[in-house]
Amino acid sequence: MTSGGARAGPDRSWWKEAVVYQIYPRSFNDADGDGIGDLRGITERVDYLDDLGVDVVWLCPVYDSPQADNGYDVRDYRAIDPEFGTMTQWETLRSALHDRDIRLVMDLVVNHTSSEHEWFQRSRREEAEYAGYYHWHDGDPDDPPNNWQSFFGGPAWSYDETRGEWYLHLFHENQPDLNWRNPRVRESITEMIEWWLEKEIDGFRMDAVNLLSKPGGYPDGDPDTDLVGASHFFNGPRLEEYLREIVETLSGYDVMTVAEMSNTDVDTAADYLGDGVGLGMLFQSAHLELDTGPDGLWDPNGPDEIDLPAFKRVIGRWQTGLQNRGWNAVFLGNHDQPRIVSRFGDDGKDRRESATLLATFLLTLSGTPYIYQGDEIGMTNEEFDGLDGIDDIGTIGAVEELIDRGRIDAVAEAEHLINYWSRDHARTPMQWSDDAHAGFTDGEPWFPVNDNYRAINVDRERGHEDSIWQYYRRLIDLRHRHDILVYGEYELYLPDHPDIYAYTRTLEDDRALVVLNWAETATEIEGPLPEAESMDLVTSNYDDTATPPHGAVFRPYEAAVYWA
Ligand code: NOJ
Repeated sequence: MTSGGARAGPDRSWWKEAVVYQIYPRSFNDADGDGIGDLRGITERVDYLDDLGVDVVWLCPVYDSPQADNGYDVRDYRAIDPEFGTMTQWETLRSALHDRDIRLVMDLVVNHTSSEHEWFQRSRREEAEYAGYYHWHDGDPDDPPNNWQSFFGGPAWSYDETRGEWYLHLFHENQPDLNWRNPRVRESITEMIEWWLEKEIDGFRMDAVNLLSKPGGYPDGDPDTDLVGASHFFNGPRLEEYLREIVETLSGYDVMTVAEMSNTDVDTAADYLGDGVGLGMLFQSAHLELDTGPDGLWDPNGPDEIDLPAFKRVIGRWQTGLQNRGWNAVFLGNHDQPRIVSRFGDDGKDRRESATLLATFLLTLSGTPYIYQGDEIGMTNEEFDGLDGIDDIGTIGAVEELIDRGRIDAVAEAEHLINYWSRDHARTPMQWSDDAHAGFTDGEPWFPVNDNYRAINVDRERGHEDSIWQYYRRLIDLRHRHDILVYGEYELYLPDHPDIYAYTRTLEDDRALVVLNWAETATEIEGPLPEAESMDLVTSNYDDTATPPHGAVFRPYEAAVYWA
């Protein structure tokens, strides 16, 4: 037993202190004029990232791919897709980032490959070494092996005429799932991971990684569930063993890991993190499920309203649940989600105030913050006209499934859902300036730029002091300068208040208080907030925020941080 003495300080890591910026390469910046964002385009913008102050770039897949799912269908793990550039250009980008002390995290997509991957091509021809690389199942071509459904709509099995068998694909039919039960598959993945580590990357974002283990016998799922089979393929029986193997491969390198693990509760997460399996952090999705309807994301009756007290409960469960047991990844959006200001704020008259409130939230919670490209200038959702102009196979598959199942008669009935959920909202090109195509490309962009680019763009945002961009920059800097915002313990106040989200972060004798009026109406702050002899306003998104906040009226989306 220890007696007295100094309390142990926080368990530090560079990736806990980092702010991550996510780049969706296709839509970030196009240097060669073909309308598709590319590696040279990103390299042109490294000073931009440096000015913003981020520490890590997570680069969505740039591997050779037929691009059925915009790169999440990898054809060759060790090659760069010509659309994005060359390996030499990737190395130039890595060095340009490293020269600015920005680390580079790559996407690791190993639940599935593209159906054009050499492994699948050889597997479907039953070449000895590769025959068991995927989940093959014999049976009648009209009768899939079980009732599992794919995330992108329709059955999770397709029949392959070449091999005369069914294969499993939890995503698109062009994304067959690798068979992780096969040790040769795991060795091949390990070799590939080592190959990238030797290229001096700084970590991996692990795509859909809690789907790796499928139960033997492929049991049917409960047909009355939202995604049939989910209880079998999420966090499957051998997942922990597979994750341990990956962590072991990484163990000789100073890298970060962030595992995409939707459908995972806090206790399970704690087992996978830190002292458990040893992953760094994970993307859970509970806070992104509050607006799904009773029948799931694509419930024809539409999304639900997000209820702030419920949102606080979910966030709090993770903030306190992982305290001393793991580490959070803090995010509200990414390339699979609607734009955060449209979903959690107001993309109309209060766009600036709500976008800066969201910045305050992201950058003052416990956990590593992730900023998705364009959120730092408050980019908004697009307005879609049915499926016209939709590129995302997830959206198209989901709407087709609603029609196939007779839940709607025509695409028009899904218009509100497409406009709420489509992943394409996040994939419109980055808005750099008010030049043609928002300065994203000199050519024809692969996806149209949002019409609002003349009002919302980087040039404009950087040009004035009270912009969303400047606010992000200040908050990133604040977080870097104050350990309390990284390592302080989270405590919630006013849990049931419908509009005010207030919490403290405490580290030894220091305390920070964050007060957010998450509403489009003004609200008087009533009820218990922590008292302090003196309270200093550190930052806020209005220029005359009350100090202390007790009893003050907070204006729409007013957000403030105090030292308390
Ligand atoms: C999650 C990725 O974020 C998403 O974009 C992709 O479609 C699926 N995993 C499949 O790889």
